[in-house]
Amino acid sequence: MTTALFLCLCLFLITYFMGSIPTGYLAGKLLLGIDIREHGSKSTGATNVFRTLGKPAAIAVLAIDISKGIMAVALVRAIYGGDWLPALPADWQNWLTLGVAIAVVLGHSKSIFLRFSGGKSVATSLGVLFMLNIWLALGTLATFLAVIFFTRIVSLSSIVAAIAVNGIALALQLPLPYLAFTLLAGMYVIVRHRSNIERIFQGTEPKLGEKVSSVP
Ligand code: G3P
Repeated sequence: MTTALFLCLCLFLITYFMGSIPTGYLAGKLLLGIDIREHGSKSTGATNVFRTLGKPAAIAVLAIDISKGIMAVALVRAIYGGDWLPALPADWQNWLTLGVAIAVVLGHSKSIFLRFSGGKSVATSLGVLFMLNIWLALGTLATFLAVIFFTRIVSLSSIVAAIAVNGIALALQLPLPYLAFTLLAGMYVIVRHRSNIERIFQGTEPKLGEKVSSVP
């Protein structure tokens, strides 16, 4: 029991560190020698990288940030699904997945390498969703893209997707730990968009593709 608890703690720490890898920050430093947290929306996420560093950098950051979520869940499955440790009952594995998913999502936006700043956890949460259930991820992504198509406002698309993911998860009748993830991550993503929400109401939130040196 103690060993199992110790392993869980190690997994939470490893995945928190994994989420903490400051992709957007590193892109800013490597490509332009800037701290992206002083530009645009000040987020280290792919949207702000797109705004500040351009499309290729944004695509790379997006892909890596999504893969952080994928790898965190894959790690749990690799460790507990293999035959070198006693396999966990599916129920336990799902709760452990919830813990690891929260750790990687938190790491992305509260990076230990950036004094607990970072992105808004959208891409990394999407990576987790891909591992939880493909239809959950695709449905959420489709919602996100539909809102982008009509509004061209990425933050609004993220917020709507963060709400919709709960309805999709319920419709798919996913296990309780997965529902808990969509609820917690969805609420967290919305809280991380506080300043965007203010700007949306003020009508000053930049649209996709708009060049801005700093977001008001
Ligand atoms: O995924 C983050 C996006 O929803 C908003 O990013 O930089 O416009 O605050 P940003």
